[in-house]
Formats: sequence, C-alpha cells, structure tokens
Amino acid sequence: MSSSPVTLRSEGAIGVLHIDNPPVNALSPATVQGLIDGLAAFEAKPELQALVLHCEGRTFVAGGDIAAFEDPAFSAAPFNAFLGRLEACSRPVIAAIHGTALGGGLELAMACHWRVATPTARVGLPEVKLGLIPGSLGTQRLPRLAGAELALDLMLSGRMLNATQAKAASIVDEISDLPPLQAALARAQALVNEKWAPRRTSALTVPPASLPDGLLDKALAQAKAKPQYPAHEAIVECVRAAATLPFAQGEQVEAQWFARVLRSGTSKAMRHLFFAERAAEKIPAMPRNLALRPVQKVGVLGAGTMGGGIAMCFINAGFETVLVEASAEALERGMATIRKNYDSTVSKGKLSAEERDRRLARLTPSLNDTDLGSCDIVIEAVFENMALKQQIAARLGQVCKPGAIIATNTSTLDVDVIAQASGRAADVLGTHFFSPANVMRLLEVVRGAQTAPDVLATVMGLAKRIGKVAAVSGVCYGFIGNRMAEVYMREAEFLLLEGATPGQIDQAIESLGLAMGPCRMLDMAGIDVGAKTVIEYEKAGGLPPDATYRVVVRKLFELGQFGQKTGTGYYRYEGRTPVANPETQATCAALAQQHGIARRGDITDAEIIERLIYSMVNEGARILEEGIAYRGSDIDVVWTAGYGFPDFQGGPMFLADERGLAHVVQRLDHYAATRGNPYGYWTVSPLLRRLASEGGRLSQYAG
Ligand code: COA
Repeated sequence: MSSSPVTLRSEGAIGVLHIDNPPVNALSPATVQGLIDGLAAFEAKPELQALVLHCEGRTFVAGGDIAAFEDPAFSAAPFNAFLGRLEACSRPVIAAIHGTALGGGLELAMACHWRVATPTARVGLPEVKLGLIPGSLGTQRLPRLAGAELALDLMLSGRMLNATQAKAASIVDEISDLPPLQAALARAQALVNEKWAPRRTSALTVPPASLPDGLLDKALAQAKAKPQYPAHEAIVECVRAAATLPFAQGEQVEAQWFARVLRSGTSKAMRHLFFAERAAEKIPAMPRNLALRPVQKVGVLGAGTMGGGIAMCFINAGFETVLVEASAEALERGMATIRKNYDSTVSKGKLSAEERDRRLARLTPSLNDTDLGSCDIVIEAVFENMALKQQIAARLGQVCKPGAIIATNTSTLDVDVIAQASGRAADVLGTHFFSPANVMRLLEVVRGAQTAPDVLATVMGLAKRIGKVAAVSGVCYGFIGNRMAEVYMREAEFLLLEGATPGQIDQAIESLGLAMGPCRMLDMAGIDVGAKTVIEYEKAGGLPPDATYRVVVRKLFELGQFGQKTGTGYYRYEGRTPVANPETQATCAALAQQHGIARRGDITDAEIIERLIYSMVNEGARILEEGIAYRGSDIDVVWTAGYGFPDFQGGPMFLADERGLAHVVQRLDHYAATRGNPYGYWTVSPLLRRLASEGGRLSQYAG
C-alpha cells in the first residue's frame, strides 16, 4: 500500500502539512489528493491554531507535475478548489519556502496567508516555458501581490526572482535565516499570539499604479505578433481580468485560457522538450554509483573564436581556466576578443563591472602548453584539420596529468582517430560546442569507441555545470546535428538545381518557424566554410558517387561568392539585407543544364519542406538504428538547442510524429518513385518504416 506524499502532523498547537514527493515535490495527482485530505484533517482539528506548509528535500513545490498534463483527463480544478479552501481558512496559513517555489508551488504559496522564505529561495511562474499559463490562479494572485506590470513581466518571461527581489515585490513577506520549518513555526506562533486575522491574496485589488496606461494593449500587440505562442496572449488577457474583474470571474477567464493552451500543439511540443532535455543528460546502462572525475581546473588550447568562447563558458561558471595559444599575437587577439565581449555585456547593463573582473581573474593566458598539466580537463579547439588535431592529441597525451580528460572540439572529425593519437584513448572524447560557444545552449558530447564511462559521465555533469544542454552522440561523420544538416543542405541544393530560388526555399523553411532557411544560413556562416567541409568529406570518401552532389556550394566557392562577407552568395547583400541574386540563379540554371537536370516551375512549399525535413528525419532514424543517438528525443534536443529548430515544433522527430510517420514514409516513397533513387537518398530507414506501421513515435524511441 502506498502512503500519501502529504502528511499532517502537529508541532505543539501548530499543524504542519508536510509534502514529500521527491525529487522536486511536484504536484502529482497523489500529492494534490494528499493536500486535500491533509487540509480536511486540519479543519477537523480546531485545537490547531495555525497551519504551516513545508516541503521535504531540496525544494518547496517546484510546480505542477508536468507528466500529469499528458493525461487527457487532467484537470486543475481539484487543486484550484483546494487553494480556495486553504485561503479561506480562518486560522493563519504560512508557507515555508526554500529552494524554488515555481509554478503550482508559488501558486500554493500565494494562497497562503503569509510567506516565509530562506535567503537562497527563488520564486517564479515559468509555465510560459512549457507553452502554458499559471493555471492555478497564478495569473490572478500574482498581479494582486506584485502589481500588474511585474506580474506580466514574470509570467511572460518565466524568469525567477531571488528572495530579496521577491520580498521587495511583496511576493514573500519575510526572509529568515532559520531553517524553513523553524522560521515558519516561529512566525505562525507570533501570528497566533497577536490574534492576526488572515490576509487573503484574492481579497486584494491590483494596485492601479502598477497598470500604466497602454501597458496591457502594448503587451497584447506584442503577444499577438507571436501567434505560435498562444500562452502569451492568454497571460495578458488573464492579467487584464485580474485588474478589471472580481476574483471569481478572473478565475473563470484563467480556466478557459488554461484549457486552450494546455491542448495547444505548442505546449505539447515544449513539454516534450522539457523531458527530452532531462533525458538527454542520462547515459543508459551507466552504473548509478560510478565515481566521477573531479574537475576544478580547466584548460583550453586554442584562443580562436571557439576556444575563446569555450573559455568564457568555464570562467562564467566559476572554473579556474588556462587558455593556451602557440603565438603571443594569437593569444593577445583571443584575450582582446574575450575582454571586448565582456565589456559589451557590461555596457548593455547585463553584467556588473565587478563580476566581469571576477570572471576575467579566473582566466590565465599562457604560451606554454605544459601549463595544461595541472588541469583536470583540457579541451583543444584548434583548427578543424585532422593532422593538426592528431598532433595536438599526441602532445596532450603527454602533457596532461594522469586521469585528466582530453576533449577535442570538432564538428565533423573522427574522434576515435584523434583519441588513438593521444596514446590514452580512454581519457578522450569529443565536445562539439556551437558558435558562439558562450551563448549557444547545445553541447554535443561525442563518445569514442574507447571513452571510459566515467569520462563520459563526468563531461555530461560538467556540461550541466556550465549551463549547457548536452546530448551524447556516437562517432560518425557530423555526429547527430551536422550529419542531419548535410542531408537538409543536399536537398536544398537539388531544389536549386531543379529551379527553386533561394528565397522560395528559405521562405518555406522559415514558415515552420526556423529563424533562417538553409541558403541564408550558409551565406551567413560562409560559403567557403560550407564548401570546404564538402570537399573534405569527399576526400575522406564520404560522398555518394553523385556528380551533382552539392555542386552549387562548390561552384559559388569557386566563383568567390562566399556569402554575406563578400556581399554575394546565394543572395546579393544590400548591407545585411539579402536580395535575390540573378547571377546565382543563372549559375544554378547552368549547372542544371550541365548535369542534365530538368528545371521545373511547379516546386511547392510543401515539396520543399518534405524534401528537406523528411529526408533529415529519415537520417535521424538511421542515426537511431546505428545507435549513434540513444533516443529520438536526444535528436530533438540537438536541433532545438543547437540549430534553431523552433521549440514550438518540438524538434524534427516530434514534428514527424505529429504529422504522422505513415505520412512521412509515404512521402519519402513518393520521392523515391518520382525523383529516382540511385544513391539511396530516399531509401526509408527500416526503423522509420517499422514505427510507422506500428503506430510508434520517433521522439519516444530509445534503442
Ligand atoms: N513536474 C514533473 N517533474 C519535474 C518537474 C515538474 N514540474 N520539475 C522537475 N521535474 C523532474 C525532472 O524531470 C527531473 O527528473 P529526472 O531526474 O527523472 O530527470 C527531476 O525532477 C530534477 O529536475 P532537474 O530539472 O533535472 O533539476 P534541477 O535541480 O536542475 O532543476 C527545477 C530543478 C525545479 C528548477 C527544474 O526542474 C524546473 O525548472 N522544473 C520545472 C518547473 C516548472 O516549470 N514548473 C511549472 C510547472 S507547471
């Protein structure tokens, strides 16, 4: 028989409603039922003079149970009714907040009459990050406590406040250094002693001064400009209700909006990503008690754009970091860029000058690679060239202390070959950072054939410490992300040869919500960079024997059309604005003629999306079949955190699931039949075909 996660006990004349639902005391259905029962038990004990809500473990309630939202029968009504009853109590009810009171947790606290917080506590209503709104009266109680303007800001951004800020905003009443339960019991006793009359948040009105003229209309206009995120509009309308309607009516407005956003595809996709990001951290079959290697000091070899950005990640997170370069000029250039980056953040008011100085003080520039000998992990970020990387790996194998981890930052090269060169392959893995490394959230961690389990686990933990979302990839060309991107670029170029324009292709892809279509993206990254990668791939024997394979990028490279930096590429640039480039279109037409490719005028947006995205999904399925990625959801994490795939689409695998895998397979078969399939581009992965026939989902697949 399972016991309830909620118990009522008494401490003298004070009742304590104690929540124990690890890991974060989320409001599972059993927890909500436990709260309802616990309150009923308290109501039946008139001898208890006050009630304290307290949570076990690392945090106060950190929100509704996100998994429970997947249940079609989910309803917030029982919890919301409970909050009403809790607030209506005639005896004082005190919340003891520690850790993070988020979402349903803060909504619970706001229904209490008094809120005590520890100095390190944080509060917030982050539902918007799940495509939701605070559906347990958060939209109604927060504006009453904190004012409309701040409430809007907090709910639209999902950002947290620390205890001091929360106190200044009247969200908490008191900050105490005492352990949370003790602090709340002391406050309860004091309130009882002074015969304090409970103060109910719902009885407050939204302070008119917190609602400057035009605030809501402006917020609404901004929200409507983002129709893919319906929660934004919902939040504004709920705050309007809080400011203009009685509480009970506001409650109904909120309930209607909540039901709507809960069912939205956006929220479903964002909830998928919440769990996907957390699943991606986990390495299957890893012993639970595996000891991690200690990491305190970090070395970065190479002070170019990547190396500098990587060093910033570590000093931002508090690590002592050594940055090594071969020449004084390169080192000074790298350091100057790092300083310039921080200065610009300081000048924007996003970082204090003191904090910048503290971070920079953690960074030691050096021209001597033996300084890497004291580091617990060394990440080399030298130029993407196999011979150079092998040479560096061999040197690091000697310089690094025993037990130190050696990471190679590469986006395409064979990590196993580099590992071998180090002479200590078990200590080596790949870290594929994305540029700019200090900004982009994704880290692809590449496990080599011989990477020791504790090395992999240590680096996954380290990724979290530096605020990255990490996903593990096995060794293959391009790993998860670039391997799939290659297929996507391949189809974009074939369509250019067949008669589509860069503008048409980009527009179709951007209609899915990607910030940039493939042509604009490559123009920005540099056609020279793209072409060189293809040329290297060809040299390595990776290309199919297809004379038309990515001929466009190679031709543009030959013509010196490197994209934005030369003012012309797929597009021509007026300043930074891309405009159609008739020259490139003529180049594509000439290439088509040369290769005997018929030009068509009937290419639709649907064809563009299917050919670029579905072929990429098919490649994702192959990546799963080969065990390169552990799970389909890892692929979605890679694409949303590293490649600008929109979160409201949930990632390519989720998108394919939502469109229906049977439909995806049918379209791939269609292109095999209509375009021909001599090089296997349209051969459907057996895994994809099987899942499609079984009604399975790629985004749920774990090998
Ligand atoms: N519902 C269900 N599970 C939750 C959860 C929630 N609201 N919040 C966290 N979890 C789970 C995570 O899935 C993870 O489970 P796992 O260990 O099986 O992977 C575990 O709790 C720990 O979460 P994690 O995010 O890895 O820990 P953290 O210490 O880095 O962060 C929080 C803790 C609470 C700050 C973070 O989990 C968070 O932001 N949660 C969501 C809060 C939220 O959006 N609440 C509103 C919901 S409507």
